Amino acid sequence: MQKNSKRDFGSFHASNVQELLGLPEAEYQPPAFPIPVPRFTDCQLETGHSCRRKHFLLEEDCTFINHGAFGGVLREAMKSAQEWQMYVERQPLRFYDRELLPHLVYVTRRLAKFVCCDPTDLVLMINVTTAINSVVRGLDLQKGDIIYMLNVTYGAVKKLLQFVCESTGAVLQEVQLNFPVTSKDQVISMVEKTLSSGVRLAVFDHIPSNAPVILPLKEIISICKERGVPVLVDGAHALGALPLDLRALDPDYYVSNAHKWFCCPKGSAFLYVRKELKAQTRPLVISHGFGSGFNSEFMWAGLHDYSPFLAMHVNMNFWEDIGNKKIQQYMYTLCRESCDLLTSLWHTKLAAPMEMFGCMALVELPRQLYHSNTAATYSTGEAIQNQLYHQYNIEVPVKCIQGTLYIRLSCHIYNELAEYEKLGKCVLEMCAMKKLCSEGSETIGNIHSQDESCTA
Ligand SMILES: Cc1ncc(COP(=O)(O)O)c(C=O)c1O
Repeated sequence: MQKNSKRDFGSFHASNVQELLGLPEAEYQPPAFPIPVPRFTDCQLETGHSCRRKHFLLEEDCTFINHGAFGGVLREAMKSAQEWQMYVERQPLRFYDRELLPHLVYVTRRLAKFVCCDPTDLVLMINVTTAINSVVRGLDLQKGDIIYMLNVTYGAVKKLLQFVCESTGAVLQEVQLNFPVTSKDQVISMVEKTLSSGVRLAVFDHIPSNAPVILPLKEIISICKERGVPVLVDGAHALGALPLDLRALDPDYYVSNAHKWFCCPKGSAFLYVRKELKAQTRPLVISHGFGSGFNSEFMWAGLHDYSPFLAMHVNMNFWEDIGNKKIQQYMYTLCRESCDLLTSLWHTKLAAPMEMFGCMALVELPRQLYHSNTAATYSTGEAIQNQLYHQYNIEVPVKCIQGTLYIRLSCHIYNELAEYEKLGKCVLEMCAMKKLCSEGSETIGNIHSQDESCTA
């Protein structure tokens, strides 16, 4: 056993982490829990408002259909994180020096099982931004290397890729996906045409934030493999929103937030790295575990609040006990019904075929709401979003995509059709108001223009 970590975590060394993660299931003994961890085995799938009241903390009177932005925590998971925090302070030495690492190992093992990968290939991270930075900033990029991404890549990730390219002389290749998207095949053939072998890294969002079509990842990854291009998947919206089987997908790097659709407390995510690439993937923060193996290096990032990681057990219990399939079926069905309802009420279209969406979708807003003959701007969309919030207490984002405004719907288990009906009616009311004052001054304020990519 390697004992090169200076820190002695009681009887548990940073280097023990690797050993414990690698143990076969039959030989592994989980640590004892100092606090209760709820199960949901006797819960039926409760949905809509009653689910919201029981399992979420959202305010009663807000029509909250923007789960995609910053998630929304499961009440029981939040309680668990708070209980861990209280427990830590009763005897901080016992917790940080003796108990924390075995617990982090356990939650990593469980999460790895949940997303179907080897636990030694997965590390917990505070968010996707940090996880992607760890991968990208660790690449030894050389002048002329190419990084490939689509125009729908998350704004903050684009900035990171621009930064690493500018500072190393690498080249960023941004490929344009045009909207409305017509089919999955359109995306596949676009990647086929534009991705060349020799690219140093290709970055794809599993579900892009501004345009939440589920990308045909299996096919995209196989194109990358054929061309020998390493692929990093940004699955910020994936965990909880779709079944994740990393073994079947087989990406080189995969990151996901747990604090979005999986409803963990904020500050919980993971990074998966293919075995052969682990040695060259180092954490941004170097601390006690450095030199003790991939998992040990990432596990301890200095003293901070680890409770969001530990609370993940509650979310895994919830998804396992209620049923991954049942939860996702409810969300997808609600999304489809909401899209049908809104497109027929507004006489508009979706930004892509319904089968490409999961629990988020883009529905075109009626043109009467803005200038019908000119391309819409980000600020027009932002103003409509603000009006929906201030006038009707509806929290939903408006996305400006290639000159057209779309509502991005989010559908979680606590949502119900009545909320989308309300949105539909309010938008029609805004259209009627707009028509009334069409010859007069703008009903919508002139809000400062902002970069489209800034929205969550
Ligand atoms: C596709 C995508 N990638 C990355 C992020 C960043 O996530 P976080 O802020 O949790 O790091 C988001 C956040 O919305 C996202 O939608």
